[in-house]
Amino acid sequence: MTAITNLSPLYKDDLAGPWQPGLGLGLARQRIARLTQRYVTVEHLRDRLADLPHQFQAPRPRRWSPVRWGEIHPDQVIGISLETFCAILLGTINTEAPIRGYTQASRQYLAHFHPPMAQFVGGTADAAGQVISPGLWELEEKRHTPALINLYCRLSGDRPTPVPHSARPYTPSGSPRADLYRHGLHRTATEYGAACLYLWMMAYTTGPLQAVLGELLVDEVNHMTKFWGFGRWAYPETGLGMMAATLAQATVQKCRQPGLQGSLMHTLKRMAGELA
Ligand SMILES: [Fe+2]
Ligand SMILES: [Fe+2]
Repeated sequence: MTAITNLSPLYKDDLAGPWQPGLGLGLARQRIARLTQRYVTVEHLRDRLADLPHQFQAPRPRRWSPVRWGEIHPDQVIGISLETFCAILLGTINTEAPIRGYTQASRQYLAHFHPPMAQFVGGTADAAGQVISPGLWELEEKRHTPALINLYCRLSGDRPTPVPHSARPYTPSGSPRADLYRHGLHRTATEYGAACLYLWMMAYTTGPLQAVLGELLVDEVNHMTKFWGFGRWAYPETGLGMMAATLAQATVQKCRQPGLQGSLMHTLKRMAGELA
C-alpha cells in the first residue's frame, strides 16, 4: 500500500485497485479478479437482464461517462509492450467494425420468432433489407470502433489501417429454430469474448485509457447478459448437452466446408489470429 502514495494522481483512480509497478502474471490475475468483482456481479447481471423488456418499450442507449481523450497517453499501458497492445487494438477494431452486418443477420434470424428482440438487435428495415432505423444493440456497439481507433491514434501516433472482417450473412438452413439457437449461441459467445478481452485490456492499463475500455466492457457485459437471458427464455430446454451437440454439429460442418465463415470454430481461430 505504501507504493500508492508515490504514484502520480493518474494511477490512484485505477479501476482494478492500487496499481503497482512491475506487472507480473500474478498481479495481472489479481487485477482481472478485482475487475471481475467490480463489473460482473450477479446484481449487475440481474439488473441488465431486467432492463431488456424496458428496452423493447422505449429503447435508450446507455450513456457513457465523459471520456478524457486529451489525457490518454502511452504510459497508461502497463506490463505489456505498447507495440503488442496496439496490435491487439487493431485486431479488435477489425472485429468490431462490421457491426451493421452482424446486427442485420441477427435481425433476420429473430424476425419471425420475436419481433421486439429482432428490433432490439437490428432495428427496422424495408422490404429490400435496407435499414430504416438501427436497433439499440447497433447504436451502442457502433460507438466502439471510433473509440478504439481514437485510442490507437493516441497510443501509436498513427492512424490504423483496418482490414474489417466480413460478417457472415443470414444463412437459413431450413430449420429456423435450430438456426436461431446456433446463431444466438454464437452471438452470446462473441459478446462474452469481447467482455473478456476488454476486461483483460483493463488489467494492463490505467487512468483515462482504462476508463474508456471500462465503457466498452460495460456495453459488452450488458449485451452478453441480454442475449444469454433471452436464449434461456426462448430455449428452456437448453443445457450443456444441447450446446455441445450444436458445437459438434458446427465442427462437422466446418470440416466438410473448411471455408465456412462465421462458425464458432472459425470465429475462435480468427480471433486467436487477430489477437496473435
Ligand atoms: Fe463491441
Ligand atoms: Fe459486442
